[in-house]
Amino acid sequence: MKELDRQEAFELASPFPYVLAVTLDKRERPNIMGLSWWMFTSWSPLMIAVSIGHPRYTHECLEHHKEFVLCFPSEGQEKDAWICGTKSGNAIDKFKDTGFKAIPSKTIKTPTIDGVTVSFECKIVEQAETGDHTVYIADVVAMRGNPEKIMHLYSIHYTKLISIGSNGRIKMDLEY
Ligand SMILES: Cc1cc2nc3c(=O)[nH]c(=O)nc-3n(C[C@H](O)[C@H](O)[C@H](O)COP(=O)(O)O)c2cc1C
Repeated sequence: MKELDRQEAFELASPFPYVLAVTLDKRERPNIMGLSWWMFTSWSPLMIAVSIGHPRYTHECLEHHKEFVLCFPSEGQEKDAWICGTKSGNAIDKFKDTGFKAIPSKTIKTPTIDGVTVSFECKIVEQAETGDHTVYIADVVAMRGNPEKIMHLYSIHYTKLISIGSNGRIKMDLEY
């Protein structure tokens, strides 16, 4: 086997599901961040963990409000989803400066993004420091989705988004 640097290893391990974490800041303004470091951690109860870098505005938001909505952006939302992974809520209002529309969540105060493939409403129960990120571990308290929007986004490391559906279809040439 060939020895790899980090860039090569992450590219080879791609694609990773690309999701959006919606949070509330201290003034209760919603923010959206793109992330690929998330996982299910328990089946019963259903739990999700997300790993958030210390400098992210999302980190500050989660320190104020211990909840988030994990949204899987559908094909067609790639332009706005990419902005959420490359611009900080410190500098812009991502609901105002993208086409994303906030809709009320079912069980928590933090809103959901309209038109996503699936959304998980999450309440944080624990957190752990791991190097330069904090892992937030949460109970899933509600799930909703748009079953007609099966194509959703994956990232090739930090360079490109593609779309994959639960029927195995792949679209590589997204324009955003
Ligand atoms: C494909 C992709 C995956 C990312 N995954 C993560 C992640 O898992 N954790 C993280 O802290 N940042 C991740 N980021 C970086 C944040 O999305 C980015 O720094 C964003 O601007 C932070 O927004 P915020 O400051 O409003 O929270 C990722 C970015 C991209 C493009």
